[in-house]
Amino acid sequence: MSSESDKRAAAQAAAALVEDGMKVGLGTGSTAGYLIAGLGERMAEGGLSGARFVATSFGTELLAREWRLPLRQLNDADIDGALDIAIDGADEIGPGWELVKGGGGALLGEKIVFSAAERVVIIADGSKRVARVGERAPIPLEVVPAARLTVSAKLESLGFDVTLRAAERKSGPVVTDHGNLLLDIRTTEPIDAVALERDLCAIPGVVECGIVVDVATDVIVAEDGAVTHSTQPGE
Ligand code: 5RP
Repeated sequence: MSSESDKRAAAQAAAALVEDGMKVGLGTGSTAGYLIAGLGERMAEGGLSGARFVATSFGTELLAREWRLPLRQLNDADIDGALDIAIDGADEIGPGWELVKGGGGALLGEKIVFSAAERVVIIADGSKRVARVGERAPIPLEVVPAARLTVSAKLESLGFDVTLRAAERKSGPVVTDHGNLLLDIRTTEPIDAVALERDLCAIPGVVECGIVVDVATDVIVAEDGAVTHSTQPGE
């Protein structure tokens, strides 16, 4: 099985959790793309009556519009800052469900949407499981442009390799949906995800970091066509 068919299988399992009338946060990335397609197909068949959706990025908003999903903002009156469920991919999933997010540059929108959701479902193919977060994927930080060098210097003094994320078909850096820059950091040292999230977010000029801990309520991983859905106790 390719990882694409596994991503699709995990996304389809998550799409089945969405019910009529729900307020749903839509993640960003290729796995979330399969989710959006699955939800769009259900709506086109007349399902999901009364469901409304909040996108985590401009890219997701465009895709959701193509699928004619009714979009809202978290501040809209019929969302009122609260979602029933958010469903999103991840760059890495650690053994305690600590995550690396932001490979698609949408970490700020994703973490805001997670904070509004009662249930946060992470969907992935098996390649995303790691023994420790930061093992393969860089950890992204969204940084205000004026603080690029001060934040980089601080991160380097803490022992990280720091790369300003470059745009691919435009000269210069990636500019996020919120007008900020992305620094991707790596270390070969073991990471305490809880402490690192706290410490990174405390650096002046860092708007958000791509480590997510104690947030996922469900993890759905598909590997070689077999879908495993794990839930936190009490979910
Ligand atoms: C976007 C993200 C994505 O969820 C993450 O990069 C995984 O993407 P994909 O599903 O394409 O592998 O965090 O900011």
